[in-house]
Amino acid sequence: MSSQLEKIQELIDKRAQARLGGGEKAIQKQHDKGKYTARERIAQLLDEGSFEELDMFVEHRCTNFGMEKKVFEGDGVVTGYGTIDGRLVYVFAQDFTVLGGSLSETMAKKICKVMDMAMKMGAPVIGLNDSGGARIQEGINALGGYAEIFQRNIMASGVIPQISVILGPCAGGSVYSPALTDVIIMAKGISYMFLTGPKVVKTVIGEDVTQEALGGAEVHASKSGVAQFAAEDGEHAIKLVRQLMSYIPQNNMEEAPMVECNDPIDRQEDMLNEIIPDNDNKPYDMYEVIGAIVDNGEFFEVHRDFAKNIIVGFARMNGQSVGILANQPKVLAGVLDCNSSRKGARFVRFCDAFNIPLVTLVDVPGFLPGTQQEYNAVILNGAKLLYAYGEATVPKVTVTLRKSYGGSHIVMSCKQLRGDMNYAWPGAEIAVMGAEGAAEVLYAKEAKASADPKAVIKEKEAEYHKLFYNPYQAAKYGYIDDVIEPRNTRFRVIRALQQLQTKKVTNPAKKHGNIPL
Ligand code: HXC
Repeated sequence: MSSQLEKIQELIDKRAQARLGGGEKAIQKQHDKGKYTARERIAQLLDEGSFEELDMFVEHRCTNFGMEKKVFEGDGVVTGYGTIDGRLVYVFAQDFTVLGGSLSETMAKKICKVMDMAMKMGAPVIGLNDSGGARIQEGINALGGYAEIFQRNIMASGVIPQISVILGPCAGGSVYSPALTDVIIMAKGISYMFLTGPKVVKTVIGEDVTQEALGGAEVHASKSGVAQFAAEDGEHAIKLVRQLMSYIPQNNMEEAPMVECNDPIDRQEDMLNEIIPDNDNKPYDMYEVIGAIVDNGEFFEVHRDFAKNIIVGFARMNGQSVGILANQPKVLAGVLDCNSSRKGARFVRFCDAFNIPLVTLVDVPGFLPGTQQEYNAVILNGAKLLYAYGEATVPKVTVTLRKSYGGSHIVMSCKQLRGDMNYAWPGAEIAVMGAEGAAEVLYAKEAKASADPKAVIKEKEAEYHKLFYNPYQAAKYGYIDDVIEPRNTRFRVIRALQQLQTKKVTNPAKKHGNIPL
């Protein structure tokens, strides 16, 4: 064999070695846990044959605790770029078969390299996480590596989409990079996120808790709100990334991809004319309204299991990607509270950062009262949503379906928060508060002095009802641009979005705002 051919053979062998990661035994162990390897996951994520791997021959430099004998080609992460539906993305996938995917200094360098390239090229970064945290043998160098990644996460925030998929245990440092990204997708049964694991919890506070109960996918998707998605398994989690990508642009200077629309834009939905019950206190299902107005009834919901009193997610209208926010009358009467405000605010800011117009469907009786809410800072949390809507410069189309009272009326993208087109259905009730409460505040003295206090309140309630429980008071002042027939909602919203395509609004120059955190 010529020396050139020998060298080529050496390359082929080295590549084969790198592709084995931590070795066949470790791969088998990974499979036995129902998990895929880093390279298998990348193959599921990217268009077939599009992956270009980088830094396959990087090795760690640690010599503590006999680490010089545990060297693997490529170390514990596979990095590179490829395409999703033909669009460029950068990717890193932690390889649990190499020392539990624990983060070394050199691994951090590999991850930072693709993050820097993604920023230069204006393309999303997708991280497939499966890591035991900082590589303990490396000490401070591993911590420094994390900090390098976090700093890049922060600089990339709002510039390129950053998506984190959690596909294994993520402890310690490995939770904070995902937390700094736009979206976290976990997989049921295999992924966990916690700052400190069950053993430490037991030692420090004496609490017995399983990994699942402490930081499983369902916990973070429904209780903490840390994860936007709890996928059924690893493969499903990766499918969700591809789906999500179809609704979002490559970066903050571009628009989301347009899709050909074969659903008539003037499709009338007679059912919407009858969806609101006669009784104000009866709920209906907001999902039916969303399904009726978006293209082909397709709604890609985000944060489905968290704060269900507000619904957020992506859809298309006339082929254009939109972010939908809607109060859900079926859950807590659609009231705003700490969690739903947080959820809504985060979604509004994501859409605004990435040029995705907002369509808001309002049916909100107010903010949830009580000590629990106040102690959890409903003032600050509600202000987050208020701030997010007021700050957003993307096209904002609002439709008030039924209730829109008080502070929650303002928060849900009202005219004065720079709502571009504000529509209402004929049965909308846009008022400062509910009729009963209003009558009790205004006529408490008269009621007390009367022989029949209840009758006084009832009478005043009816008066208030007549005066304010309609959309015309708001329309009279131009706070509502038009009162529309419910069955025409799809057409009217699409028309508004078409009109708003050239919208240009900029906020005053500043270092950054101070959103109430
Ligand atoms: C070095 C690690 C490691 C780590 C796992 N390994 N975590 N090596 N540093 N952080 C190694 C194991 O020694 C083992 O090596 C291999 O990876 C597989 O690990 P197992 O324990 O056999 O796997 P499993 O039973 O599935 O348990 C996975 C695990 C557990 C839950 C992640 O390994 C674990 O609890 N690891 C430590 C987690 C942790 O405390 N991390 C915090 C680090 S400090 P061999 O050679 O036997 O195959 C930190 C601070 C950063 O992250 C803060 C920044 C803000």
